[in-house]
Amino acid sequence: MNKIKIKEHLSPESYKLITSAAKTAEEMGYSLFLVGGPVRDILLNKAENMKDIDLALEGDTKSFIKVFQDKISYKKLITHEKFNTASFEINSNLHIDIAMCRTEIYPQPAMLPVIEKSDISDDLGRRDFSINAMAIRLTGKNKGELLDPFEGQKDLSNRVISVLHQNSFIDDPTRLYRAIRYQTRLGFNFDIATFRLFLRGKINLSLLTPERIRYELECMLKEPDFKNVLSMANKFELFDMLGFDDTGIEYLNKLKSCDFETGLCALCANMDKDNISQLHEKLNLPKSTSKLAEEVNAIMHLKTSRIPSRIYETLSGYSVKAIGISSQLASGELKRMLNFYSGKISKIKPLISSNDLKKAGIRQSAKFGKMLADLYMLQLDGKISDKADAMDKIRDLK
Ligand code: CTP
Repeated sequence: MNKIKIKEHLSPESYKLITSAAKTAEEMGYSLFLVGGPVRDILLNKAENMKDIDLALEGDTKSFIKVFQDKISYKKLITHEKFNTASFEINSNLHIDIAMCRTEIYPQPAMLPVIEKSDISDDLGRRDFSINAMAIRLTGKNKGELLDPFEGQKDLSNRVISVLHQNSFIDDPTRLYRAIRYQTRLGFNFDIATFRLFLRGKINLSLLTPERIRYELECMLKEPDFKNVLSMANKFELFDMLGFDDTGIEYLNKLKSCDFETGLCALCANMDKDNISQLHEKLNLPKSTSKLAEEVNAIMHLKTSRIPSRIYETLSGYSVKAIGISSQLASGELKRMLNFYSGKISKIKPLISSNDLKKAGIRQSAKFGKMLADLYMLQLDGKISDKADAMDKIRDLK
């Protein structure tokens, strides 16, 4: 029997949590397994910074959670009745997910599966790739046993990604995105049969809901090597429905770091108006996010100028965030203009306030605002250098 000593691979905090969960399960007469990503990463010797501990339980999840939650300290607990799962946020860097062992039946391709309680063997059989379909037994006398029904360990050493069955991508097209993530992150190749199925599975991409596409895009943009992941995904046309193009991918290369919004803005910076306005619906984005992407897209298409007042007029309507992202993406004159605006122009305080105008005997009228704006423009262009100068100009403007 292949036994794994998990203690050697994990942080003390993760190990303590897993041991506590295993002890709880044993006391309740249940079997508990470490599954999926953590097992893969332990076998790759990459689990010391594990952020998600995935556990599968042969037993009643609800009763288990009730007992287990009193034994650990955590920040937040989210439970999903429908899937019989619970997710503990231990801290911002560590989550522990507990799920009932289950089989999955896909009523229709690309829909969420219907689940049924089952055992660890079925639970491994419902998974995406052999390298993610292994478990380590955490309870009973065979503690530490590696369960590897689909030769995941062999695929790990051969650096290969393979699906467990012919319909994997058809049933769940999000696995197309997952495959690209693992391929890039781990530097693995598809096995030939999996590659053929991957190409065939693309037919069902159009069935995915906006939320699921957005989630996969978010996961991709969180990858350490997000540029290559997106580039590969685009090469395989996984984001054709959104209209990402090569320029968008090149823009990603300009980002020092990436979060979802920043990455999305980069990918959309070169899009045409039709595509950008449809993004909101196609990804079911929060309004603020689609607005930001539209702003960045507009900024990237602006006519440049070197005249301060013109620059102010052009850029002052955009958010600081949009200008910040755009200046990372821009080059040449546009970059110069954006940096000049955020570094200098936007910080210049007006010499003249509305109170000054009132004191100068100018009555509040429609002209009032225009006068202040005109004075500010003159100030930005260096045509007024102090308050006295400005007061002279007021007389001219009156
Ligand atoms: N899984 C699957 N099909 C999916 C999503 C997930 O089979 N569409 C299974 C895989 O076995 C995966 C596990 O659920 O290992 C947990 O999913 P997730 O947390 O997304 O991935 P991890 O394996 O933990 O990998 P990562 O390091 O990317 O988080």
